[in-house]
Amino acid sequence: MRFDQTEPGVYPALIYPPYTSTHKRGPTHEPLRIRATAPVQTNIAASTCLILPHDNDLTAQGQGEPLGEKIVVTGRVLDEDGKPVRNSLVEVWQCNAAGRYWHKRDQHAAPLDPNFFGSGKMLTDDDGRYRFVTIKPGPYPWGNHAKAWRPAHIHFSLFGSVYAQRLVTQMYFPSDPLFDYDPIFQSIPDLAARHRLIARFSMDETVSDKMLGYYFDIVLRGRDATPMDL
Ligand SMILES: [Fe+2]
Repeated sequence: MRFDQTEPGVYPALIYPPYTSTHKRGPTHEPLRIRATAPVQTNIAASTCLILPHDNDLTAQGQGEPLGEKIVVTGRVLDEDGKPVRNSLVEVWQCNAAGRYWHKRDQHAAPLDPNFFGSGKMLTDDDGRYRFVTIKPGPYPWGNHAKAWRPAHIHFSLFGSVYAQRLVTQMYFPSDPLFDYDPIFQSIPDLAARHRLIARFSMDETVSDKMLGYYFDIVLRGRDATPMDL
């Protein structure tokens, strides 16, 4: 496996001034180079024991139906050679349809939904495919600057099959008017790489009159890598 094939401009700068909190967490010293040893290359074995009923259906975790637009999101997790990453853990988390997270630190003036908690997880199948049902998240204000509103997004955490494939990123929805104003989305320098974070609407994945479908492939490393987006 090649670990250094990601093109320049795909991953955001660790300190990106318009994204103000990167000043606090971005390193100010050059990274230390270390040799890739066993922990980087060791296979990660995901267990089906990690997955509970309804983990891949975020609309089925409460006592009733959550409010909002029900959607299905699916895609494949691929490595830098385009091969499926099998049996790997994919975790997702998001706000509800009104733009509020089920978290005590989110106190913005939007209602919580007693039937939507916003987190899920699943394993990829032999084709590298994942699939989950959820509610389309709303935009929310985040205080980075005046009128700072995040485009609707779903957070993804992927472990891949080796530690070097670890990826934390976000999936966006097509044609969001907030893209041009969002420093997190804009922190990815390369335009094509940035657009790899936008799911595409899929009529094939749409389920009759129940939910619209979105397709989002994720590439771990390599020339077509899905950017990190924190
Ligand atoms: Fe978020």
